[in-house]
Amino acid sequence: MPARETLRSHPAYELDVPMKSILIPADKLSARVLEMGREISDTYRGSVPLLVSILKGGVVFLTDLMRAITIPHHIDFLQVSSYAGGVKSTGTVRIMSDLGTNIAGRDVILVEDIIDTGLTLSYLLKQLEIRDPRSLRVCALLSKTEARQVHVPIDYLGFEIPNEFVVGYGLDYDEKYRNLPYIGVLDL
Ligand code: IMP
Ligand code: MG
Repeated sequence: MPARETLRSHPAYELDVPMKSILIPADKLSARVLEMGREISDTYRGSVPLLVSILKGGVVFLTDLMRAITIPHHIDFLQVSSYAGGVKSTGTVRIMSDLGTNIAGRDVILVEDIIDTGLTLSYLLKQLEIRDPRSLRVCALLSKTEARQVHVPIDYLGFEIPNEFVVGYGLDYDEKYRNLPYIGVLDL
């Protein structure tokens, strides 16, 4: 009998641009996400935190992170304007689709895929702070500190990465490659 095929061992992700390198393999990602889930569970035990994911990039991280969090919690989504297909931040951030939850008095954790210039996060933190949450923290899978233009606080960080454009695990180039189970650098 052939071994059961799992997502992890999926043989052939089909790419229309070659992958230059794999920065963070799938097993490293899942090990770190488990640790982050444990840490968040320990910090928020007794509360029902609200995890706010930024669409679309943050969604793969969120779905793994929430299953690594062992305490009851809620989730919600925000969509902001993005790079519109390119690889450079425009500096202009707009909320395209807002939360369905009133966050006043809630313990809120903003779950981001990557902090690059910090402009998106900085804007969102200001917008959410006005709504009077009990607490507001940031959980980011990746950070490119070298690319930062404004300081933003990161309470939980998965990995610090070099200033390169990465794809996979929710992150896209031209809306593609979000399905890859690893973080990689395309040979553009
Ligand atoms: P920032 O406003 O420059 O911090 O950028 C935040 C958003 O830009 C992230 O949530 C991502 O959607 C996108 N982004 C930044 N760097 C990358 C990257 O290396 N690959 C894919 N998307 C990125
Ligand atoms: Mg994006």
